Amino acid sequence: MLEVNNLMVFYENALAVNDISLEIKQGEIVGIFGSNSAGKTTILNTMAGLTHHLKTREQRRGGTRITITGDMLFQGENITTMKPRQRVERGIILCRERHPVFRDNTVEENLKLGGYLRKEREVEEGMRFVFDIFPPLTRLKKRKAGMLSGGEKEMVAIGMALIAKPKLLLLDEPLLGLSPHMQQEVVRAAVRIREHGVTILMSEQYARPIMPVVDRAYIIENGTLVMIGTSLEMMENPEVKSAYFGT
Ligand SMILES: Nc1ncnc2c1ncn2[C@@H]1O[C@H](COP(=O)(O)OP(=O)(O)OP(=O)(O)O)[C@@H](O)[C@H]1O
Ligand SMILES: [Mg+2]
Repeated sequence: MLEVNNLMVFYENALAVNDISLEIKQGEIVGIFGSNSAGKTTILNTMAGLTHHLKTREQRRGGTRITITGDMLFQGENITTMKPRQRVERGIILCRERHPVFRDNTVEENLKLGGYLRKEREVEEGMRFVFDIFPPLTRLKKRKAGMLSGGEKEMVAIGMALIAKPKLLLLDEPLLGLSPHMQQEVVRAAVRIREHGVTILMSEQYARPIMPVVDRAYIIENGTLVMIGTSLEMMENPEVKSAYFGT
């Protein structure tokens, strides 16, 4: 579904992503694991077109700070230099890290914002889907998003992405700062979202809560791919265990 070939991203002279190739197949849940600054957000932002957008904006101001090389194919189409919106239209939807929501808007308003490119009927359908995936949001519809707990905010953030009708959903550290119980809720939600035909790429620092549900995982360190494997291979690997499972 998505194929990334030899992706390199430099910010100034710093190499954030170093020659990474990866593939996400239709219907999979794929994990990208790595510690702080490993390059997870840069990879997901580059897939969603945000890095290219930032580069273009800086270039207009005469800057040449960001360099991106390599290419990306989505369902066979080269999307490497496409605008974020064109990628959204094709079904590549990013849910950014640290549950970004509009704090002064209600849950319902936030969700509707996620469907800004969709028809009204599709937004309504999407709302039903979100409430089905995250039942606790039903009674929080009228609550200001700023008043929600971290877990509830994350449900809203993922809900906004779902209303945009993803084919490929990119989740950047969806478990960050959540209680173990809430983490399980989000992981279960991801499995149910996939059951509805959405392919998922998730980034995380710690693999433990997610590894059981991913089909394949990529481990990156300092922007470099250090290991690829199925979740079983990863869970049985002693090095992976000590670095990413906290054991
Ligand atoms: N806009 C930017 N300008 C300059 N450097 C950046 C920018 N964004 C990221 N970087 C650098 O690129 C590297 C990778 O950062 P990135 O945010 O992709 O890592 P991450 O794996 O998402 O980390 P975290 O777990 O903390 O979210 C870091 O060294 C970071 O400082
Ligand atoms: Mg990040």
